[in-house]
Amino acid sequence: MSQPLPPILLVDDEKNMRLTVAGMLTDEGYAVETVESAEQAEQLIDKREFLMLITDAHLGGISGYELLLRARKRRPELPMLMITAYATPKLAAEAIRAGATDYLPKPFAPEELFLHISRCAERYRLLVENAVLREKVTSGYRLEQIIGESQGMVELRDFIRRIAPTNATVLILGESGTGKELIAGALHSLSARARNNYVRINCAAIPETLLESELFGHEKGAFTGALKQKLGRVEEADGGTIFLDEIGDMSRSLQAKLLRFLEDGTFSRVGGNDELKVNVRLLAATNRDIIQAIRDNQFREDLYHRLNVVQFRPPPLRERGQDVCLLAEHFLKHFCGSLGKPVMTLARPAALKLLAHHWPGNVRELRNVIERAVILNPGLQVQPVHLPDFELESKLRKSDGPIAAVPDSLDEAMANFEKQLILAALERNHFSINKTAERLKVTRHSLRYRMQRLNINVDGNPDADTDTLEK
Ligand SMILES: Nc1ncnc2c1ncn2[C@@H]1O[C@H](COP(=O)(O)OP(=O)(O)OP(=O)(O)O)[C@@H](O)[C@H]1O
Ligand SMILES: [Mg+2]
Repeated sequence: MSQPLPPILLVDDEKNMRLTVAGMLTDEGYAVETVESAEQAEQLIDKREFLMLITDAHLGGISGYELLLRARKRRPELPMLMITAYATPKLAAEAIRAGATDYLPKPFAPEELFLHISRCAERYRLLVENAVLREKVTSGYRLEQIIGESQGMVELRDFIRRIAPTNATVLILGESGTGKELIAGALHSLSARARNNYVRINCAAIPETLLESELFGHEKGAFTGALKQKLGRVEEADGGTIFLDEIGDMSRSLQAKLLRFLEDGTFSRVGGNDELKVNVRLLAATNRDIIQAIRDNQFREDLYHRLNVVQFRPPPLRERGQDVCLLAEHFLKHFCGSLGKPVMTLARPAALKLLAHHWPGNVRELRNVIERAVILNPGLQVQPVHLPDFELESKLRKSDGPIAAVPDSLDEAMANFEKQLILAALERNHFSINKTAERLKVTRHSLRYRMQRLNINVDGNPDADTDTLEK
């Protein structure tokens, strides 16, 4: 896996010298960018990545030494080589002090220059490799990343802890944005397979015709365009875990091949006859109604049973109560941090607005809402105005109000309906109890009573005499 190298930045005020050195480097296969002044070099260093900087000591404006000093401040890791016609030990020492990695007196043989550059290239490759490894280590999913103290989430984390160390096939079912991918990642990270690869394939994002070859690989010439043999992702996942995301979108013919793979770990590459075998744990997820897909003959029932050894069902966000606020605060910290802003808090009316929303896009939607609020808000507290007009959005989706959800009982359905109605009215009236009561044609006391019964806690002290929660 060799990474293409970024160009070398060459600074020399003499045109001939620039052309000669650039020619030598290009012939050796390096990309080169040439400029004639330190000023131009400085600008480029700010904008782009370079393998190294090669500069002459004497330039028209700012000297090569000064350029080294400035570039070292901006890019401490950039290797820098100084070339000069007036080589003395004193000047060499000065160049190194200014930040040069090395020093080359003129005239020099091309081999000497190439030796320096190849050292820099080697160093660059190591840096890139290190960065990739670091990312691999830190991208490991952890259980603590799954935020939530509602009963459903506490149980979910417990269940992950128990199931992760086993080899059981797992099926994760849940609405879009409920954290299915996080669960799959945590299952791998907490298993003995964590030292081996975790391969995720989004079955909906790969064209049907290519998915089989992506999963199981292909032999050279298996189809037009198969110029070389290609290993399957299941081979890459050998000893580790494969996560088939959006499995509900897999074609029926591939479902049959997956079933065989699940029985004993065997498969053949597309266009190949050999039977291959790997040791892979399979996790799968979908946000589709899988039972309906089976009824519609789009999903094989036998595959469903084979996958469904252990089932996870992350609850929708609207059923997680105060977790909405916990998650909002978590995302506030995250986005304020990444945008370099001081950490904002959530004003109570804004929190209530979040609690009242139906969250069809679940945690992903909340994450986006908070990111937007952080961008829009110049202050330290997120207020309702920084949040989208959820009321307008819910009007667009009239059909699935509280009536559409299947309630356990009529009482529960009525309570849900009443709660949503009161929350919406409170929001419309800027959380003024007086105005809301007036609008709903009930007494203030009656509204307070209903709010208490329905667990609508607008100010932490329902008997306080403040009518508006926060100004
Ligand atoms: N409990 C949680 N704590 C913290 N972040 C979460 C939680 N659940 C989900 N997220 C975040 O929300 C976003 C969506 O989660 P994820 O991609 O896992 O959802 P999904 O169920 O796979 O959705 P889809 O069905 O659309 O693929 C991600 O950025 C994820 O990190
Ligand atoms: Mg997903």
